[in-house]
Amino acid sequence: MNFQLKGKVIFFATGNIHKFNEAREVFSEYKISVGMLRFKSLEIQNDSLKVIAKTSVLDAFSRCNLPLIVEDAGLSIDALKGFPGPYSAYAYKTIGNKGLLKLMENIENRESKFHSVIAYYSTELKSPKCFKGEVAGEITREEKPGSRGSGFGFDPIFKPAKSNKTFAEMTTMEKNRLSHRAQALRKFAEWYRKTSKIKQGS
Ligand code: IMP
Repeated sequence: MNFQLKGKVIFFATGNIHKFNEAREVFSEYKISVGMLRFKSLEIQNDSLKVIAKTSVLDAFSRCNLPLIVEDAGLSIDALKGFPGPYSAYAYKTIGNKGLLKLMENIENRESKFHSVIAYYSTELKSPKCFKGEVAGEITREEKPGSRGSGFGFDPIFKPAKSNKTFAEMTTMEKNRLSHRAQALRKFAEWYRKTSKIKQGS
């Protein structure tokens, strides 16, 4: 593949190619090039996604000294008092989508939210800068993976409020119109564009 990094370049440390592709599409709207640093940085256990993301970006930066972002996300289900929230990765690994649907079997209230925190760090900053995004929706009654096999994680069981499709049934572009991650990425991109213009004096 002929992939060139042009103009403003930042890096995204993630082991998740789906997250990277979502970010690449959003950043292209802002003419920001993004390179994937394919490693999983330190992910501490904490109740706050912001604390997890900040720790993670400093760990990633200490390994490569490049201007970079990391992202941490979580799914909160109202009827389960916010579970799995910051423990989403563990819940996905252990009980998965089937297990979550089982927990929700006789529950009418399907309301839930996806949260995302992007943390950015570079040598010019004193401490990491964070950007949040969230999307409200519902947990479906069954898995709806979609025909293209796209999506990852909880995508087949999460349907945003403004849609009749689950995230897994959407293209990346459709998911990016609504998703928690795209909102956080756009907030970061707006800030980044503004601060880099100021630095160049334009
Ligand atoms: P992470 O720690 O941010 O990678 O995510 C925690 C868990 O939520 C992992 O199991 C992911 O697969 C899942 N997850 C994160 N973002 C999304 C998303 O946009 N759609 C579906 N699942 C997600």
